[in-house]
Amino acid sequence: SQVDVDASAYDAGEHESYMRKEMLEQPTTAQAVLRGRLDDRFGTAHLGGLDMDARDLRAVRRVKVLGCGSAYYVGQMGAGLIEELARIPADAEAASEFRYRDPVIEPDTLYVAVSQSGETIDTLLAVQEVRRKGGRCVGLVNVVGSAIARECDGGIYLHAGPEVAVASTKALTNMFLGFALLALQLGRVRDLSIADGRRLVAGLERLPAQIEEVLAGEDDLVEVARGLAEARSLFFIGRVRGFPVAREGAQKFKEISYCHAEAYQTSELKHGPLALIDPDVPTVAVVPHDELTERNVAALHEIAARQGPLVVVTHEEVDLGEVGARRIVVPRNEPELDPILLTIPLQLLAYHAAQHLGHDIDKPRNLAKSVTVE
Ligand code: G6P
Repeated sequence: SQVDVDASAYDAGEHESYMRKEMLEQPTTAQAVLRGRLDDRFGTAHLGGLDMDARDLRAVRRVKVLGCGSAYYVGQMGAGLIEELARIPADAEAASEFRYRDPVIEPDTLYVAVSQSGETIDTLLAVQEVRRKGGRCVGLVNVVGSAIARECDGGIYLHAGPEVAVASTKALTNMFLGFALLALQLGRVRDLSIADGRRLVAGLERLPAQIEEVLAGEDDLVEVARGLAEARSLFFIGRVRGFPVAREGAQKFKEISYCHAEAYQTSELKHGPLALIDPDVPTVAVVPHDELTERNVAALHEIAARQGPLVVVTHEEVDLGEVGARRIVVPRNEPELDPILLTIPLQLLAYHAAQHLGHDIDKPRNLAKSVTVE
């Protein structure tokens, strides 16, 4: 069975949908998850609710993130952040699969359950599996006092406020920020330098205004989104930090526009999906300015050579050469934090595609905000 959020206390107001209202709230809600948790002086984060001291944090040898849907994809971004900043092996897994493979639970692994509602049954049962086998599980949860929050050993509340639209936007952004705080704290009790810590704290402080800047570019994306909405099938591609961004972009697009959207690692294109590229199959590529830019641009040439329409979410500095692509430029932050800024235009694209097609954006067919029974 499925539950719908009680929206009576939270009105979409003058907005045509909750999703749009929630997207536009992101600069404010992003501030809420960071408030009181950043330490400029020592370049770290303070997370009281985690209930882990420096010694507990140092004992962590591995991190496993568990979530469903968008929470799983942002969990993959989060695992990447933890591995980069804390140099702890980390990965994300679909919570809906986890318990069915009789997973080995290790005492020095930190399990992290991610959930907006805190009621998703698959995530809750994954937490129970971890705890039953003696593991430590912390939560990144939005709804205070929810089942997952209560079941976890401690956690980080996301403070995004009520989220009504099935497609998660502001809660997802705060999940990413919650992971950044966790990665920072895990990093700083290990080998992350104070200089890097301060660099990331300053980056996090800049983020809400940059999110606002991306949202302000909404009007420029409407035509692009309408073009994509006409496609029968699309690809979303990215590499390393950009791959979970592409996965989340494809997820949003299919959830509310009902177009078939598939995410791929850019590096895997030539190992299969390139066979499908033609003038009717657009690709949305995530190409940040980083050590992989050149390789990413080379892959775009492969797509362009097959007349595949291209939309590229990128940074000002990236030179696409002769590739005929529609560029969507987002501001740069610190490279580790860029994924969230690259994600925002993909929310807008999905939104305007669905709007153009006349769909019920807040309640897409066959989906519920929170799936609470198996
Ligand atoms: C449902 C929704 C997804 C959402 C997922 C996880 O499947 O349709 O949009 O990402 O649940 O929800 P949660 O509340 O656990 O973050």
